[in-house]
Amino acid sequence: MSGGPPPTIAEIYAKPPVNQVIQISGWVRTRRTTRAISFVELQDGSTLKSLQIVMSHQQIPRERIECELHTGAAITVQGLLRATPDRPQPFEIEAQAFSLHGAVDPETYPLQKKAHSLEFLREITHLRPRTRTFQAIFRIRSGVSFAIHQYLQSQGFVYVHTPILTPSDCEGAGQLFQVTTLPLAAVPKHPDGRVAYEKDFFGQPAYLTVSGQLEGELLAMGLTRIYTFGPTFRAEPSHTPRHLAEFWMIEPEMAFYDLTLTMDLAEDFLRYLIRYALEHFPEELTFLTERYEPRLIDELQTASSQPFMRLSYTEAIEILKKSGRAFQFPTEWGSDLQAEHERYLVEEYASGRPIIVYNYPQAIKAFYMRQNEDGKTVASFDVLFPRIGEVIGGSQREERYDRLLRRMEELGMPLLPYQAYLDTRRYGTAPHSGFGLGLERLLLFLTGMTNVRDVIPFFRAAGQMG
Ligand code: 4AD
Ligand code: MG
Repeated sequence: MSGGPPPTIAEIYAKPPVNQVIQISGWVRTRRTTRAISFVELQDGSTLKSLQIVMSHQQIPRERIECELHTGAAITVQGLLRATPDRPQPFEIEAQAFSLHGAVDPETYPLQKKAHSLEFLREITHLRPRTRTFQAIFRIRSGVSFAIHQYLQSQGFVYVHTPILTPSDCEGAGQLFQVTTLPLAAVPKHPDGRVAYEKDFFGQPAYLTVSGQLEGELLAMGLTRIYTFGPTFRAEPSHTPRHLAEFWMIEPEMAFYDLTLTMDLAEDFLRYLIRYALEHFPEELTFLTERYEPRLIDELQTASSQPFMRLSYTEAIEILKKSGRAFQFPTEWGSDLQAEHERYLVEEYASGRPIIVYNYPQAIKAFYMRQNEDGKTVASFDVLFPRIGEVIGGSQREERYDRLLRRMEELGMPLLPYQAYLDTRRYGTAPHSGFGLGLERLLLFLTGMTNVRDVIPFFRAAGQMG
């Protein structure tokens, strides 16, 4: 092909080359054949819109059209783009010729024009990108990822790449995937039964990272404002619609930020991303609202235009106790907030407004969070969204060497993998804070989907690789 790539359908709609002969490529969405003419709807995933191709049987033999142009076939069409002001679509292509790149056997092709269930599409993730639903979702995912960089870069944040292979468990929750080159059938061991890790690839145990935070903190202690944006791995055994074993997390980390400044940043950041989606993806959001979640656009508008509600953990517990609701899980001070509690707080107590809950009990949070003066709570926060629950978890970090060391010892953590981390508390320590935003959780909120498996192209979850 000379003269550059063929235009996408989005480019044709943006600047229609009326009365010109053009080439256009894509996949057949539908075909309708009458006696003298066939109508082919072509799509290419660049926009929700499809392009209507009109094929006169005088120009192109009907037998060839009926044999080659089934839903899903890949073709390039050459034809005249003609304005059609009296039709539902603004223009169509009068085909002069077409070439077939890849045929489809309509007997075996799993996708038809009708809407398929999301469960069914999860079994054919390689073909999901042919559906308008997944084209819309993946375009929003792309645009929002770009907006994340745009927002943070515009605020002076440095994008850093933290390692995926790591010796330490950042969250201390033990949800690690171990990485090894030791032979599983005959793991070398010492006489006392301990694994001989000196024979392993790194000479020590290694894991896939559950968070880039620890390395992010080291970088923020020199670069002041940094963020990571990368894949994150958790051996999360539960089958829930909110958890993946491989997900993407954005982790900003800021020196000289306290908890309040960090909550302000998280709120402004989320509101920016929601506004970005509303401004840049109106067609996709309308489509997803009509097809999947009637409240979608309203919820996005509410979240982007009103300040989030802020409640301390202690206040949240009081509200849950006074609600008169019979929750399945306890609402005693000290117990973690479960999905049912989070949903009550956001959907009923705050009438759908996002909530930030802060100052959780130390016992239910990670070792690195800054200890409050009350001796019971830590300077932590979660952002809760309607329909989803937690989208962000963050905190001010414990920057005081003695306090941090004491906490790690209390928890019985091995100190060796954390030497560098502790070092930054000995050399020029400074107050600092950060948070982790789960991209798939945010995308559930932005797309109206209810399962994180539907907002990532190929999902990895316990017992399943889609
Ligand atoms: O609350 P989490 O565990 O916080 C951290 O990992 C901190 N190190 C972040 C930081 O302060 N830098 O996870 C952060 C977010 C959650 O709020 C959630 O949105 C998402 O990551 N998340 C998951 N998303 C999908 N599948 C999972 N298994 C997830 N676990 C956490
Ligand atoms: Mg969390």
